[in-house]
Amino acid sequence: MALKRRPESLGGAYELLTESGVQQLVRNLARMAGIERRVYPHLLRHSYITWAIRRGMHPMQIRQIVGHESTAMIDRVYTHLVPQDAYAAMVKALADVEEDWRISFGSTSDRIRIREANQADTRRLVDVHHRTVLVAYAGIFPPNSPEPRPDALQRQWELAFTDPTFRALLAEEDQGGAVGTVAVRSDPDISGSGEVCRLHVLPGWWGSGVGTALHDAALTALRTAGSAQAGLWVLRDNRRARAFYERRGWQLVEGEVLALPDAGVIEVRYRRRLPACVGPRLAGAGSQVGW
Ligand SMILES: CC(C)(COP(=O)(O)OP(=O)(O)OC[C@H]1O[C@@H](n2cnc3c(N)ncnc32)[C@H](O)[C@@H]1OP(=O)(O)O)[C@@H](O)C(=O)NCCC(=O)NCCS
Repeated sequence: MALKRRPESLGGAYELLTESGVQQLVRNLARMAGIERRVYPHLLRHSYITWAIRRGMHPMQIRQIVGHESTAMIDRVYTHLVPQDAYAAMVKALADVEEDWRISFGSTSDRIRIREANQADTRRLVDVHHRTVLVAYAGIFPPNSPEPRPDALQRQWELAFTDPTFRALLAEEDQGGAVGTVAVRSDPDISGSGEVCRLHVLPGWWGSGVGTALHDAALTALRTAGSAQAGLWVLRDNRRARAFYERRGWQLVEGEVLALPDAGVIEVRYRRRLPACVGPRLAGAGSQVGW
């Protein structure tokens, strides 16, 4: 850009651009881009600083790049942020917090982290699932029904992961031990709706907030995926879980029951609305049912 080619009539050689030549060049480019306001080279500097701030670059770094003594100059002269920028920054900060959600149970050593799980975590997901339902569902399934086996649960999780809308979350202690799971997917029955499933907390952790944190993270995942409402199925006789959901805004859908005759149990459906959120919509659906 520092050199300009002379017309052939003047020899065709390259020569240095003049200041007014650069201004003309920028004006022409702005016109070609359909920008109606006056555009001049120094404006690019303003625009760059505003752009960098919007993308989260620290003012100290920007100050170094543009060669200013203090950041006060950046504040006063160069930023052209609008109220929507502050809103966008706030939403991004909240999303980052949700992404790496940590909950504390009073002491810093007892910390739980919730992260997205993938197929490589299947054994850990199965382990939590198995150990939880052995305790939680005893007395719910008929006495003669066979206990769930880890290999059967493993197949269920593997099948669940084949659904492209399926996302699993894992709650772990800081030391890495898994203590809870939850999963979401698009509701195969209702377009635009999400489904929460596989909420399991190891019995030793019941009543310490892990279930709530997983539940809330699941709703956040569904909201972020664009679902306006969510549903779930729960065993009719699972009193603890039903009370848990009802205290968190879920409403029983009267008349919607799913009998699982082979297992000798009945499931009931709950639904709830999710706060509006801009985001991509979940697509497709799969199916899985089980302990
Ligand atoms: C249902 C289930 C997920 C709840 O998990 P949880 O970890 O016990 O849930 P929480 O600890 O967040 O909440 C349970 C209660 O303990 C309370 N609690 C939360 N943090 C607490 C703390 N630090 N100390 C004491 N109590 C606490 C909560 O307020 C809540 O009470 P509330 O429902 O009256 O508000 C769990 O019991 C479970 O895994 N059950 C078996 C599997 C199951 O049935 N899953 C549902 C399949 S559909």
